[in-house]
Amino acid sequence: MSRARISIDRDFTISEVPRRLFGSFVEHMGRCVYTGIYEPGHPEADEQGFRKDVLALTQELGATVIRYPGGNFVSGYNWEDGIGPVADRPRRLDGAWHTVENNAFGLHEFVDWSKKAGTEIMEAINLGTRGVEAAREIVEYANHPGGTYWSDLRAKNGHKEPFDIKLWCLGNEMDGPWQIGHKTAHEYGRLAQEAAKAMRLVDPTLELVACGSSNSGMPTFGEWERTVLTHTYEEVDYLSLHAYYQEQEGDAESFLASAVDMDHFIEAVVATADAVRAKGRHKKHINLSFDEWNVWYSRPGDPDSPEYLATQPWQQHPRVIEDKYNVTDAVVVGTLLNSLLRHSDRVKIANQAQLVNVIAPILAEPNGPAWRQTIFHPFALMASLAKGQVMRTEILSDTVETSRFGAADLVDASITWDEESGKMALFLANRGLEEAAQVQVRLGGFDAGEVTKAQVLHVPSGLDRFAKNTLKLPNQVGMRPLDGVAAVGDQLTLTLPALSWAVVELSVAKK
Ligand code: AHR
Repeated sequence: MSRARISIDRDFTISEVPRRLFGSFVEHMGRCVYTGIYEPGHPEADEQGFRKDVLALTQELGATVIRYPGGNFVSGYNWEDGIGPVADRPRRLDGAWHTVENNAFGLHEFVDWSKKAGTEIMEAINLGTRGVEAAREIVEYANHPGGTYWSDLRAKNGHKEPFDIKLWCLGNEMDGPWQIGHKTAHEYGRLAQEAAKAMRLVDPTLELVACGSSNSGMPTFGEWERTVLTHTYEEVDYLSLHAYYQEQEGDAESFLASAVDMDHFIEAVVATADAVRAKGRHKKHINLSFDEWNVWYSRPGDPDSPEYLATQPWQQHPRVIEDKYNVTDAVVVGTLLNSLLRHSDRVKIANQAQLVNVIAPILAEPNGPAWRQTIFHPFALMASLAKGQVMRTEILSDTVETSRFGAADLVDASITWDEESGKMALFLANRGLEEAAQVQVRLGGFDAGEVTKAQVLHVPSGLDRFAKNTLKLPNQVGMRPLDGVAAVGDQLTLTLPALSWAVVELSVAKK
């Protein structure tokens, strides 16, 4: 049995929980839109063709803000192709994913879908093949009340009231050579600066996200952020980060320590942004938007891999990277969410990529059912229970040495406290593959009351850490009761099973 001691103090908080940390992502990619959120003719489709089963799971997941329409897709996308009568919309080749886009789903459909889902829109613009003019025009179309060419066209297309989209991404992964219209940091920085100025001249209330690096392994990482922010510092509010993790060659220990890498990545970008702030004598801080993150198994030989599909005839919405997630993946996702919460003083937006079918917590079969993958559970519970303040969490844990990320605590945690409801929520993971972990938590400044929820996700009996939820067994892996949680005075004790992710919610009173 490994051991961990966790301490918090009522006076030591990091930030109010940014609700936008529980964001997701809908890209025109594979079956995320078509036969994912949108499938006219499906038995669960509503009058607009939106799948009600997927809408219900999106609400249960608790996604707060959804990035759209890409991703790599957006860098070759004409937003005007997705407006107006569907019959008049053009069919186009999407070079990013080697597919045919028929544009049956576009901006109006996404706005309507978002309203039904109860989610905020984070709209990405194309800074790959397009520029300043298209950027200001889409803002005028979406947000201007009326009396101009673009705003009147919106009304003609069925939406008299402005969409009032506040949050915008200035392109996607523009540092990546794979990106359509890829740019150097100087080229992108200047374009993003001018696009931001033009967009804000139409609507000064926008919040803007500049592209950071596609991942921390990019050769330009660091220098890209510095250059882009040097150009855009006064024009933008956030800088983006993207990261995908996978188990490599059976090295589960390193994979389970992915959040250590996420911690370092975030801290490096914060340091770079603050260095630009100091050098430029800027007053405000740039916050971070971790607008693509998840577990993603890249297997170029698989029939649903982008590499394989690129060699095939052009298709409409084929299956692309429909990863099936297991117990280990769910524990990793729980720890990545812990990392985001622990850095919530600077990370204010995060989007798990993607929402449905494509590397997603929700799977939906065409003309068939939809169900929750293993990674659905930590996301949904954290989105619903992380409220109030994120507590500064000191962890003294036994560690595991990993080959990719060095030493990692066996027990990982984040804790939130909502003074209004008097509820505290603890999100805990045990990275130990074999051993249970005994955890003692000191709740400084609090008296523990009733434990109102104690649940754990771990390897179901008789199965192994690769257990998944499938079409035939959609609930094989899920949350189960966590027994033996004891709360007395300012002490909470519990035991986490090997390889597990757990949530404990309790009432607390201030001492
Ligand atoms: O989420 C899948 C893809 O990953 C996105 O389109 C791209 O931005 C990233 O490389």
